[in-house]
Amino acid sequence: MDKIFVTYPFPEGWLSLLEGKVKIEIKSEDEFLSREELAEKLKDKDGAIVLLGDIIDKGVLEKARKLKVISNYAVGYDNIDIEEARKRGIIVTNTPDVLTNATAELTVSLIFAVIRRILESNEFLHQGNFTGWEPDLLLGYELKDSLVGILGAGRIGSVVAGKLYALGAKIVYYDASKNEDLEKETKAEKEGLKWILQNADIISIHLPLTQKTHHLIDEKELSMMKDNAFLINTGRGAIINEASLAETLRTGKLGGVALDVFENEPGINTHLLRMENVVLTPHIGSATYKARKAMAEIACRNLLAALKGEEPPNRVA
Ligand code: DGY
Repeated sequence: MDKIFVTYPFPEGWLSLLEGKVKIEIKSEDEFLSREELAEKLKDKDGAIVLLGDIIDKGVLEKARKLKVISNYAVGYDNIDIEEARKRGIIVTNTPDVLTNATAELTVSLIFAVIRRILESNEFLHQGNFTGWEPDLLLGYELKDSLVGILGAGRIGSVVAGKLYALGAKIVYYDASKNEDLEKETKAEKEGLKWILQNADIISIHLPLTQKTHHLIDEKELSMMKDNAFLINTGRGAIINEASLAETLRTGKLGGVALDVFENEPGINTHLLRMENVVLTPHIGSATYKARKAMAEIACRNLLAALKGEEPPNRVA
C-alpha cells in the first residue's frame, strides 16, 4: 500500500476517500514541523497532501526520493518549487473551481467593508462614541458607478468582476490574455496596469504569485493610484510590497485597503495593524464549509489518481 503524509489534521471525514486505499500518517495538531522535519517525514512517502504554508522547495524535494505526487490543498501553488518537482518527475496538483465563489464573495464583502467603513463604524459604536445621527458621520463611497480594476481575470477575478458588475460597478481588467467571456458578460475593457492604477476607484488583486508578479504593486505603483482609491487583495500577499503599502497609507494616500493575504504569513506589517482604514482578515477567502470540504475531496482524488498512475484531474506539474 502507498504511504502518504498529510500536513494537517483535517476535520473528521474530510479525507474519507483515502480510507483503506493508502497508509496515512497525519501531522498531529500540536506538532510544528520545520522544513527539515517535513523533509524527514516525506523521505519514505509516495504521496503528500500539503497546505499553502508548507514550503516544498528544492531541499525538501531532494530528500523525498520516493515521492510521486504532491497534492496541494489550495488553488495557488507558489509554495512548491514546480520546476524542481517537474525535473524529478513528481506530479503536483491543486484544488481549483470549488473555492472560486467563496473567495469572490469574500472579496465583495471586503470591498463593502472598506468603502463603507463597516469595521470602523463597529469599533466607533463599541467604544461608546455614538452620540446621535450626524449628516457627515463616517461617510464612505458607493460601489455603484465606481470603476473597478481587476488585476488577473482568471477564474476568481472573473467571478468577482461579474458580481461587482451586477451591483453596478464598471469593470476594467489587467491580464496577459484577453478574456472575451468576461468582456461580453460585464462590458469589461482590458487595460494596461498603469492605466488601471491611475484611473480605478477600487483595485482588486487576483493574480497568481510568480517571479513576475512579486511586488508588482510597490511604491511607484501605489503612488500612481488615485488619492482616495481602495486596494483589495485576496490573491497572494507578496504581490504587494507590504512595507511600501504601509508607508503609502501613512502619508494619507489611498481611501483604504482590505487584505486577506499577507507577504509573510502569518506575520503582518505592524503598521497596517494599527490603521483605521485597513481591513484585515486571516486568509479566509475559501473558508466556507462547502469550499473547504470540496477542496479536501479534490485533494484526495488528485492524490489517488496520481498514485494509481492515472492523470489527476487538477495537475499543474
Ligand atoms: C488558495 O487556494 O490558493 C487560497 O489562497 C486558499 O484557499
